[in-house]
Amino acid sequence: MAKIGKNIEQASEFLTQGELVGIPTETVYGLAGNGFNAEAVAKIFEVKNRPSFDPLILHTDSIEKIAQFVAEMPAQAKQLAEAFWPGPLTLLLPKSDKVPDIVTSGLDAVAVRIPNHPFTLELLSKLDFPLAAPSANPFSYISPTTAQHVNQHLGAKIPYILDGGNCRVGIESTIVGFPEGKATVFRKGGLSIEAIEKVIGKVEVLAHSSSKPQAPGMLAKHYAPKIPLIIGNIPELLAQEKGKTVGVISFRESYLGADNPLQFTLSASGDYAEAAQNLFASLRKLDELQPDIILAELLPEQNLGIAINDRLRRASVR
Ligand code: TXA
Ligand code: MG
Repeated sequence: MAKIGKNIEQASEFLTQGELVGIPTETVYGLAGNGFNAEAVAKIFEVKNRPSFDPLILHTDSIEKIAQFVAEMPAQAKQLAEAFWPGPLTLLLPKSDKVPDIVTSGLDAVAVRIPNHPFTLELLSKLDFPLAAPSANPFSYISPTTAQHVNQHLGAKIPYILDGGNCRVGIESTIVGFPEGKATVFRKGGLSIEAIEKVIGKVEVLAHSSSKPQAPGMLAKHYAPKIPLIIGNIPELLAQEKGKTVGVISFRESYLGADNPLQFTLSASGDYAEAAQNLFASLRKLDELQPDIILAELLPEQNLGIAINDRLRRASVR
């Protein structure tokens, strides 16, 4: 298993040597390596068992440093960067020659983000390279929101996990690109579309597709627990699945009773941010408790409910 600790110096040493380290961000934990070192980046794909056509995000700690790996920054990208970085926003921008092709899977655009976590910002400030980091989960499994989640599946393959506690946002960053100059959301995430539109006006939102995704991250099956998950009206599903051991993921209501260990209420007060924080840990716990089936209900399609529903729908794809 990996060593888990709060030693930023040690994390920095491993990364400088070309090793991989689990890092905390405000969204989910990342599996980080030197983004300018193609060998380190290749290790990321290997450890995650991730197909090489699915590109990675480069993380850094300042807009000035981004000039090294981005060829240009459209005006709307600048506005978003200034409004939301450090934070749960990733921008797709034309890449510079300094970025190895393996990072972008050969695409012309590179994904960049300044994450908002004090440990990782301090770590990045010590490094003279950006960190390529996907979420630190095996490909297509539930993203990790604690250092222990990372250790559970990837601990045997990496030397160190920087422990920054529970992720405050709990779902991945919102990805915005500018195909043909039009601001477009490629992945719904921890920054709401409403918040983005307040800064740059109306944006396009791409739906994910199972057959030929426009962005690899739009694969339909993702975030999937091993136990089958179905979405619907919980009281109706409970009647339909009578006789089975069921786990429930609901928004405010507790359908099995609040003290039932198989009942996970994302936010009793109906707070979207709290619901997002609890989502992945709840899915992981239910997967460990192994009911016959997981029943989940969708949240209202607004605010972070949009991104949470996207995760639930993809978790339900068999
Ligand atoms: O919150 C986050 O974004 C977390 C933390 C660790 O920063 N990272 C994360 O990385 O979720 P990952 O690799 O699990 O998801 C990034 C998504 C992938 O689905 C990938 O397909 C898409 O971003 N992506 C990366 N580079 C891209 C590019 N050049 N063009 C289109 N999509 C890209
Ligand atoms: Mg991921």
